[in-house]
Amino acid sequence: MNNFTFYSPTEFVFGRGTENQVATLALKHGAHRVLIVYGGGSVVRSGLLGRVEEALRKSGLPFAELGGVQPNPLDTKVYEGIDLCRREGTDFLLAVGGGSVIDTAKAIAAGVAYDGDFWDFYVQKARVQSALPVGVVLTIPAAGSEGSGNSVITNSRTQQKLGIREPELLRPRFAVMNPELTYTLPPYQTAAGIVDMMAHIMERYFTNTPDTETTDRLCEGTLKAILTEAPRVMADPQNYGARANIMWCGMIAHNGTCGVGNEEDWASHGMEHEISALYDVTHGAGLAVIFPAWLTWMASHHAGKVAQYAQRVWNVPDNGDQRAMALEAVERLKGFFRSIGMPVNFRELGIEHPDIDLMVKRLHVNKGELLGCYVPLDCHATKEIYELAL
Ligand code: NZQ
Ligand code: ZN
Repeated sequence: MNNFTFYSPTEFVFGRGTENQVATLALKHGAHRVLIVYGGGSVVRSGLLGRVEEALRKSGLPFAELGGVQPNPLDTKVYEGIDLCRREGTDFLLAVGGGSVIDTAKAIAAGVAYDGDFWDFYVQKARVQSALPVGVVLTIPAAGSEGSGNSVITNSRTQQKLGIREPELLRPRFAVMNPELTYTLPPYQTAAGIVDMMAHIMERYFTNTPDTETTDRLCEGTLKAILTEAPRVMADPQNYGARANIMWCGMIAHNGTCGVGNEEDWASHGMEHEISALYDVTHGAGLAVIFPAWLTWMASHHAGKVAQYAQRVWNVPDNGDQRAMALEAVERLKGFFRSIGMPVNFRELGIEHPDIDLMVKRLHVNKGELLGCYVPLDCHATKEIYELAL
């Protein structure tokens, strides 16, 4: 196990009716003037936005609003938000929605406090030095942004989809998590969220760091919980218990706990971000295509930990042939993704002829010559993996 610092100050307020505490929480965490950030309208239709507005009004907290954040959120909305915050004297961002909304709020929070272009942070021209506080009312368990210090934004001019990781400054101050708020999710979004949280665990699990038994078992246990709860939630979207477990798994998967002490991989996420940047597909669905391909490639190049995963997560019997065990795990993973309605190749994702050469080129411009650490991947390897996903 490697040395690590784990700093996770987010206050999680979980359960039925917890959105009623949003004004109290915002005040407790220092809000005087709030900017509510939300997406394309689901929170308007569900009445959640109205309830949040009402709660702030009752507490005498002034607020402005920025709606219309789209999935795979764009820099243009961030610029709009930064201007609005400066005009309104906002000192607190309240994200009501999913990863796209939360990531936009985090980017605005960092950008308001910076004289230059906020995109500098995403291309690593500058580091975030300070940021406004962000609070969250979560409506979709998926990206895990409610507990992470990350933000992923797409540049509308260059189509680069890039992330920053600033746990000290960008982890939300609080996250309200009411599983009932996820009842209205369409099945595709529920399923894509399930894939994303599984991927967040697997990106951390596949490591060469020795002596990671505690973290391994946490990863395996959370993956098994997801495999148990996912069919329940797909069959009965209003099953509170299943929704609650899935929602908490999404947080555990990505707040860092599943990777403490590990060198983490993240190659599959890098490869997926090129797909969603270019074809604007749902992030989780893109991962359902890439992760099985990545694992298939690993079965032939470094099967060890994939065989452990096969045995412990997918109950594949140990027959001494690590490659065969790894490939069996891939089949079981694909079967599971299909069972919840996810695509497992480009064609099923709706992309008949993906421009693999372009994705490989952009991937290595954005992420460097080598990607990931379980097996560092050069441009020939990433091309092979994209091809395995055809
Ligand atoms: O925009 P609205 O109308 O709200 O609809 C959204 C959106 O269409 C809908 N939705 C959300 N909650 C709903 C609902 N519809 C009905 N009922 C509800 N309760 O779901 C759609 C997807 O929303 P989005 O916020 O895009 O989903 P998600 O949470 O999966 O976020 C995806 C984004 O997060 C990034 C992804 O790359 C992608 O851009 N990621 C962010 C990470 C982070 N910050 O730590 C890590 C992840 O790996 C990921 O890269
Ligand atoms: Zn993800």
